[in-house]
Amino acid sequence: MRPDTRRNSVNQLLNSLEPDAFERVKKKLTRVKLRAKEVVYKPDEPIDHVFFPENAVICLMTLMSNGDTIEASTVGREGASWISASVGAPSMPCETIAAIEGTALRLPIADLDRELKENGHFRDILIEYSHALLIASMRTSACNGLHGLQERCARWILMTLDRVGADAQAEEVLAAYADEIEAMKQQGGYTTADVIDVNPQTPNLDVLLNKFKTEHTHSEDEVRFILSGRGIFHIHPANGDVVAIEVEAGDMIRVPRDTKHWFDLCSNRTIRAIRWFQDTTGWTPHYTGSGVDAQFDPVCFGPAYFGPRVENKISA
Ligand SMILES: [Fe+2]
Repeated sequence: MRPDTRRNSVNQLLNSLEPDAFERVKKKLTRVKLRAKEVVYKPDEPIDHVFFPENAVICLMTLMSNGDTIEASTVGREGASWISASVGAPSMPCETIAAIEGTALRLPIADLDRELKENGHFRDILIEYSHALLIASMRTSACNGLHGLQERCARWILMTLDRVGADAQAEEVLAAYADEIEAMKQQGGYTTADVIDVNPQTPNLDVLLNKFKTEHTHSEDEVRFILSGRGIFHIHPANGDVVAIEVEAGDMIRVPRDTKHWFDLCSNRTIRAIRWFQDTTGWTPHYTGSGVDAQFDPVCFGPAYFGPRVENKISA
């Protein structure tokens, strides 16, 4: 396969090259497909190519003496498989695998060395990227060690979303998050998962929204992880006041079964979410007919609501 002949690359590190450097490097690139679980580098073995992912995601795994592995860092289209190239290291002590199948641009290490010697700008970018990857790795370690499954799942999904792109097809999203979705299924007893997209282009949008925004219950949990867009859940406990919960990208919500609730979109009428189901028949509402939902306006404030006001108050 020949690499894309466009001037700009999907890979953001390659995209940061000066135009003449990009043209030089482009001639040395080969697009390859990395299959899930494919070993890219074995620990401490000489590295002869560096990979710049397009839509593949590469995982750097710390390998223990008993053979156990744990994720140390992930690399997608924002980076490169072997950042130690910028300091001339010949190998890495970790095992590097393709976590998500996709394409990457492969560059022989001799060509990378030559470019780094001639191109201080590119070398600086790789060093800055190394610093960013170190910080991300520290945060990943903290999350893996201190957070529960739902928080870890949220981190995996958000990081992966950054790497595969928010506009990916539903099938690509489900494939990209297959491990995390499966972990959630096992923890919550869910049998299926899908991606729901609702936006102004959705056919019969108002009919669909009327179904969402009328008080109802389900005979199973309503579990959503928000990928993009915003909306507002109203939760109506059996013996309590109605509570409004605004959700946006990165939020996970679980409305327990038989809990009265309804849902509205915010003003841009757009949301994308992963849904988990315990019942293979999927989303089945049981409407209460109470009319309580009509007493509450779907007012979304958003994360920016308090920010400028607080800032102005402090500076006043
Ligand atoms: Fe619902």
